Amino acid sequence: MTNHHARLTLDPAFRVAEVNRRVFGSFVEHMGRCVYTGIFEPGHPAADDVGLRTDVAELTRELGVSVVRYPGGNFVSNYRWEDGVGPVAARPTRLDLAWRSFESNEFGLNEFLQWSRRVGVEPMLAVNLGTRGVQEACDLLEYCNVAGGTYWSDLRIEHGVPEPYAVTLWCLGNEVDGPWQIGHKSAEDYGRLAAETAKAMKRLDPSVRLVACGSSGRSMPTFGQWEATVLEHAFDYVDYLSLHAYYDAEVCDLPTFLASAVDMDQYISAVAATVDFVAARRASRRRIQLSFDEWNVWSASRFVGEDHLAFARRPRLIEQVYDVADAVVVGSLLITLLQHADRLTVACQAQLVNILGLIRTEPGGPAWRQTIFHPFALTARHARGVVLDVRAEAPSYDTERYGPVSWLVAAATYDQPAGDLALFAVNRGEQALSLDVDLRAFPSLRLAGHTIVADDDIRAVNTREQPDRVVPREHDGARIVRRNLHAELPAVSWSCIRLVPA
Ligand code: AHR
Repeated sequence: MTNHHARLTLDPAFRVAEVNRRVFGSFVEHMGRCVYTGIFEPGHPAADDVGLRTDVAELTRELGVSVVRYPGGNFVSNYRWEDGVGPVAARPTRLDLAWRSFESNEFGLNEFLQWSRRVGVEPMLAVNLGTRGVQEACDLLEYCNVAGGTYWSDLRIEHGVPEPYAVTLWCLGNEVDGPWQIGHKSAEDYGRLAAETAKAMKRLDPSVRLVACGSSGRSMPTFGQWEATVLEHAFDYVDYLSLHAYYDAEVCDLPTFLASAVDMDQYISAVAATVDFVAARRASRRRIQLSFDEWNVWSASRFVGEDHLAFARRPRLIEQVYDVADAVVVGSLLITLLQHADRLTVACQAQLVNILGLIRTEPGGPAWRQTIFHPFALTARHARGVVLDVRAEAPSYDTERYGPVSWLVAAATYDQPAGDLALFAVNRGEQALSLDVDLRAFPSLRLAGHTIVADDDIRAVNTREQPDRVVPREHDGARIVRRNLHAELPAVSWSCIRLVPA
């Protein structure tokens, strides 16, 4: 038993919103080894007829990934999508200026959309609004979504795809506020371009749902003003505004790093307020949704910077190896996304394979699960139904960056038809935390399991040699007594507690 104690109450009457499966998205960028030797490796023993790695496809299904954003990221801002369609032998090799790489275009749009179908994920495509504009975005949409009888749709049919893809989710560029972006623009210029592109895309296909670029991070000097200006132009045409965040353990102490979700929570609230400010100015009842389409832990301070990369083919870029503390933070970020389910309806972890990957691969070799794979897969599997409003009381600790921070981060979901309840909880404290959950509003539940991601060594990682060094474990001690759930949350841990009808 521990001296540190937290409590919370769950009640099916207190709801945030339905769990939107689209928050369990990920991201595949033409960058380093995410595509090449990641999801695609012709000649690999596990490759299928297209060259798609079935071992990676299987792990992606196990993750429960819903949406996958493609092809970038910074890459999209100097990409010509036409290079990646048609006979492979005729596709040009280009210089990718985002990551100073040689892009062979062996893998392109049709391969990605084929991969999406085989894996069972929804594609979320990005158009290039760095070096290109309205026309090329419409050409791409016509190629994907028009049935036939036009230049681009007939070309798709000629390329062996008779049926349109009906892609719904589209990103209008990527991180256009960032000076590193090829085709970086001011908020005014981007806002006008995003509005005109969105107007044309919706005229072509009114079923599309469009994401305008918000800031590439909350610490950008233009944060806030960027969002407001972009939406002043694009408000009537777009459906979502994007958020991006990466949390870096190298630039703070462990307690601050473990509190990264505080930043994510404040960031989401600030963007929602800014979006609503624009709506209020227009006396509009339209509620632009939020798309957190890049998020993860990333030791970005260790990255040499794009300008220092030597041009290379499928380089080993940013192949971060994640430890247990990273997995706990990723788990807390997922909880935060759920807590904002009423407004945040798309999210993409960045990225799926190798680059900041949930999955790691070796060329010609195995694929394995990083530590951060586990909280993602378990949250995607068990978060069903509605998110409940969890009001917790817990001890706090002080951080320089965020002030007092609660030891506990928690979200619960309730699948009313099945009667299943899932509680996701992170103990950020460096000692165990005992948790009591008031279940008075739920007449008869039994404990189906308490799964944790934790380890005596929070620096433990999974490697090719030890791919299962860190795996989820069942944790003893949880019990329900007179409609009160009691559980022990180990120090620096992520938990999923499942309750089902008795
Ligand atoms: O995910 C890696 C990169 O991070 C993406 O290309 C970019 O959008 C972000 O800065």
